[in-house]
Amino acid sequence: MTRLSYSLLAQLVSLAPAALAGLTVDVNDADSVKEAAALVAEDLMSFYTGDQPGEIPGVLPQPDYAFWTGGALWATLLDYRIHTGNTTFDKTILQGLLFQTAEDDDYMPANWTRSMGNDDQSFWALAAILADETGFADPATGEPQWQTLAKNIFDEQSIEERRASKCANSLRWQIFTFNDGYNYISTAANAAYFSLGAQLARTMDNQTAADLASQIYNDIWDLGLIDEDFSVYDGTNVEDDCDEINKLQFSYTAALLLEGSAQMYNYTGQNTWRTRVDGLVKRTIEVFFPDGAASDVACEPDNCNTDMTFYKAILHRSLGSTMKLAPYTVEAILSTLKTSTAAAVAQCTGGDNGRMCGSVWTGKFDGTTGAGSQMSVLGALISIMTTEATIAPTNTTDSGSGGNGTTTGDSSGPSSSTSDSATTTGRGSRAAISVGAIMGALLLGTLVLG
Ligand SMILES: *[C@@H]1O[C@H](CO)[C@@H](O)[C@H](O)[C@H]1NC(C)=O
Ligand SMILES: *[C@@H]1O[C@H](CO)[C@@H](O)[C@H](O)[C@H]1NC(C)=O
Ligand SMILES: *[C@@H]1O[C@H](CO)[C@@H](O)[C@H](O)[C@H]1NC(C)=O
Ligand SMILES: *[C@@H]1O[C@H](CO)[C@@H](O)[C@H](O)[C@H]1NC(C)=O
Ligand SMILES: *[C@@H]1O[C@H](CO)[C@@H](O)[C@H](O)[C@H]1NC(C)=O
Ligand SMILES: *[C@@H]1O[C@H](CO)[C@@H](O)[C@H](O)[C@H]1NC(C)=O
Repeated sequence: MTRLSYSLLAQLVSLAPAALAGLTVDVNDADSVKEAAALVAEDLMSFYTGDQPGEIPGVLPQPDYAFWTGGALWATLLDYRIHTGNTTFDKTILQGLLFQTAEDDDYMPANWTRSMGNDDQSFWALAAILADETGFADPATGEPQWQTLAKNIFDEQSIEERRASKCANSLRWQIFTFNDGYNYISTAANAAYFSLGAQLARTMDNQTAADLASQIYNDIWDLGLIDEDFSVYDGTNVEDDCDEINKLQFSYTAALLLEGSAQMYNYTGQNTWRTRVDGLVKRTIEVFFPDGAASDVACEPDNCNTDMTFYKAILHRSLGSTMKLAPYTVEAILSTLKTSTAAAVAQCTGGDNGRMCGSVWTGKFDGTTGAGSQMSVLGALISIMTTEATIAPTNTTDSGSGGNGTTTGDSSGPSSSTSDSATTTGRGSRAAISVGAIMGALLLGTLVLG
């Protein structure tokens, strides 16, 4: 009898973990990190329907998800791909990135006019430049090429019409005059432009882009959007001559500035940029990893909207990229990312499969699920991977016929040209900004973000 119960118990115990164990990872074991990432990526893509008949490719399901999150999705998957050598999503990435390019090859499809911010557009540009940088096959001849798309957007955002002359010539948030937020200077929009310019400068060795990137950093510094201690604030209003700063802090804004600064440091080797990298690393870790796990402290635990559930993906990936662009920062960053990633994974016990992730990492599964939460945990896992460089660069002159064009599936020989390239990108942000624009203050939660 004792024996029987014991074996029964053993059976129950051995069954239980299959249903309830949740996601697990050993953050110090590369294979374990990779295995966890594969599951999280799969679960992330369970939210994407754009590859199904009748659905819109490129964007996460409407109306739940903003346009920029599509750009962030492809950038994250490109990062997943270059860090793991896993080419499972190549076709889907290509289709998504191509479908939304729009007539002018600038990622401003008419469908999104009513909410099109400079940051939305930049998040797609950052995906395109990452595709270029990581050797993801360019679309067929006749289709827009990754680098061209990224350049087009940077150039469009460099012109006066996108700027506010009485606010140090910084970028406005919204692109169209008739949209709410046209008179808001969004730090995130400026930071995304900065990061894009820095990346273009470095990858193309283009001094003009470097100068423009450097200029925008100075502009938002002059406006007080970056503080002496490297706190990065949400934005300011053109109508008040940009005198009043909305001091909310969101992680992806600081992360974009950090990554751009790391790109600039890598490109120029200048101490000015090293100092900025150091200041931003220190302050970003202080503010957004208060107890070890990453947290968007301005809205967590209860007031984050859907956009905000994506921010930690950008935060983690930018810190990961910073370690690659400025290897001396590993010491200051890596252990924080590991602690945070462990916490992120530990709360992934939700959903029918028992491993879906919630949006808050500082405790148990918080009962919410979504693409933002999956992407954030995937971003965390990616951020502690080293680049595998196992994907042969594709021959871009021969990428074949559009639809089927993502040839890169061949994960054979190591390629030196990708080994330093898994750096990357930023992503966008309408919500934080609407918050700033509309409220200009600290009361989150009741907003309707359009
Ligand atoms: C590649 O990624 C997909 C999606 O995450 C996953 O299902 C698959 O197991 C991965 N393959 C390998 C070899 O890790
Ligand atoms: C724009 O919206 C229409 C209607 O939903 C859809 O058929 C089309 O594919 C969309 N285009 C883009 C680029 O999203
Ligand atoms: C360098 O960057 C600037 C700014 O984006 C761009 O206008 C110019 O075409 C680039 N030059 C080259 C050779 O690509
Ligand atoms: C620039 O980035 C490359 C690739 O990650 C790295 O090997 C190199 O050390 C970096 N340069 C500097 C100055 O840190
Ligand atoms: C790329 O493909 C074209 C056309 O097939 C070929 O002429 C060229 O030599 C290839 N380049 C490389 C680097 O393999
Ligand atoms: C991909 O393109 C090649 C050459 O154009 C063609 O032979 C092949 O059938 C295509 N494969 C798919 C899956 O469409």
